[in-house]
Amino acid sequence: MQAEPAPEAPRARPRALITGASSGLGAAFADRLARNGHDLVLVARDAGRLAEAARRAEERHGAHCAVLVADLADAADRRKVAERIEEGVDILVNGAGFGVSGSFWELGREALEDQLAVNVTAPQEFTHAAVRTMLGGNGGTVVNLSSITGLIPGRGSTYAASKAWTRYFSQGLSAALRGTGTQVMVLCPGFVRTEFHARAGIDVRQVSEGWWMDPDEVVDRCLSDVARGRTFSLPGLRNKVFISVVSRLPRPLAQRVNRMLGNAGARA
Ligand SMILES: NC(=O)c1ccc[n+]([C@@H]2O[C@H](COP(=O)([O-])OP(=O)(O)OC[C@H]3O[C@@H](n4cnc5c(N)ncnc54)[C@H](OP(=O)(O)O)[C@@H]3O)[C@@H](O)[C@H]2O)c1
Repeated sequence: MQAEPAPEAPRARPRALITGASSGLGAAFADRLARNGHDLVLVARDAGRLAEAARRAEERHGAHCAVLVADLADAADRRKVAERIEEGVDILVNGAGFGVSGSFWELGREALEDQLAVNVTAPQEFTHAAVRTMLGGNGGTVVNLSSITGLIPGRGSTYAASKAWTRYFSQGLSAALRGTGTQVMVLCPGFVRTEFHARAGIDVRQVSEGWWMDPDEVVDRCLSDVARGRTFSLPGLRNKVFISVVSRLPRPLAQRVNRMLGNAGARA
């Protein structure tokens, strides 16, 4: 009979791999996790910004940082990231993501496929690599970036659907992993001050100040929910109240509210 492989010995410092680490929420996760004593593997396309984030984490928090430049719309690049995850990570943050700009019927197929690859295929492949490795070792945590948009239909189509997929995927998997020492958290932020909206061409001038959160605030909330063993994080009191009200409305009324608030027609 073949002996079970011995669990991997714990590393001196835990390691986190973060996608989307060049900007916004991913960059905030990198900073917070380095401050909490993690070494980092930082993933995105922009090599210069990743090198800068690595330098900051090393200088401020003494973290050992590696940079992995990868376009997550590209299958070969995704494979490189998955292989890095299989070498062992304690926390995986699937932070990379974007929303295409324009109506579904006006966009080219390639833009839609890239969005699907970055928002859905990459988190699925990386979570698969991480969970298998964590289960065979000392356990760990996966944080998947969904959105408040993934909780309510009507705010755009393909982007919102990708975030709903992330939520269902993560919650289903976290139920399956209960009691194993490997945890999957789904983070559902509302409006966060990052480059996301400018990149997606979303006009946010009508969104009042009270809705906005800073990336550090969102990340702190999420990591404190992780520490409490929670698997769902919806930061911000306003967001919690909004979701709780909208989810109690009859479906047609909820969709009308979302269409008004979410400028759904202009979003693919
Ligand atoms: N900001 C919000 O209000 C908000 C609310 C809810 C959910 N979210 C979600 O939070 C996540 C992070 O977004 P953010 O707000 O931090 O936006 P952001 O500032 O635009 O950051 C997006 C990150 O994703 C990376 N990325 C985009 N396309 C990529 C690709 N093809 N390959 C590799 N990396 C790629 C970008 O890096 P490079 O350009 O260097 O590749 C960047 O680091 C997204 O999944 C977004 O859907 C954001």
